[in-house]
Amino acid sequence: MEIVERGWDDFWAVVFRVKHRRSIPGIHDYDRMVVDFCIETLGLKEGDEILDIACGAGDHSLLFAERGLKVSAFDIAESLIRVATERAKEKGLDINFYRGDMREINFVQRFKGAVMLSHSFGFFDHEENRRVLEGTFNALLDGGRLLLDLMNPYNLPRFQKTWTKIEGGYLLTEPHVVDAPAGMLRGRPAVFVDTETDRIVLANEDALTNNDIRMYTALEIRDMLEHVGFSRVEFFGANKLPRMPYTAKSDRMVVVATR
Ligand SMILES: C[S@@+](CC[C@H](N)C(=O)[O-])C[C@H]1O[C@@H](n2cnc3c(N)ncnc32)[C@H](O)[C@@H]1O
Repeated sequence: MEIVERGWDDFWAVVFRVKHRRSIPGIHDYDRMVVDFCIETLGLKEGDEILDIACGAGDHSLLFAERGLKVSAFDIAESLIRVATERAKEKGLDINFYRGDMREINFVQRFKGAVMLSHSFGFFDHEENRRVLEGTFNALLDGGRLLLDLMNPYNLPRFQKTWTKIEGGYLLTEPHVVDAPAGMLRGRPAVFVDTETDRIVLANEDALTNNDIRMYTALEIRDMLEHVGFSRVEFFGANKLPRMPYTAKSDRMVVVATR
């Protein structure tokens, strides 16, 4: 069997964010609950503009648009933006999907709400992570709100080694490892057994560099948000309604900051 290495945008993005995601039982209902939570918590009304940062293949963006919001959404992976654009076309939804880097958000006071869902914050060093929040602050209208849906650093999921049958083959994922002194959750390379072309696919250097996430505590996040100018910062313990208080045992750490 041939062994090849592939990158995030040209291979793994679609494997994880489309094929693997699709294989998760109940994921569509989960997405609906997350979207309901975001709309209510951000106080959004029909016609309001929302920015979906690191939107993946647009699963939530499509639902926001179906709820009457004007959606702009971007991701670093062109391959995911292609899937998202196709999905919007099939559903007859008008969504501004584009390829973009969250370190270079350059809208000026345009959105009533912004979201980073499924723990899409903390991919870079501290300064760059702060730059992401700064760009988001600038993109929001006065009174606009940002919602970060993060894992709870005090109650991380029990990561396990799993084999999953997905379209085209089998995906082996290794558990993430907590690097406590660095405050990082380090991803481990996945393996895809491509049964259609009889190949084993590994992650190349570029795909591997996307694997680590800085895990901030509530106080650290509050500090960063206030530093870039957000005035009110709240925490919730779940990404579904009803809104739950944030504790060490919460499933998620949802951060809502108001400009
Ligand atoms: C955990 S996924 C979440 C995707 C989507 N929000 C969801 O909930 O399904 C993180 C996403 O961040 C994207 N990403 C990574 N670095 C990025 C960057 N610098 N700018 C924009 N998107 C980025 C990845 O391509 C991936 O789709």
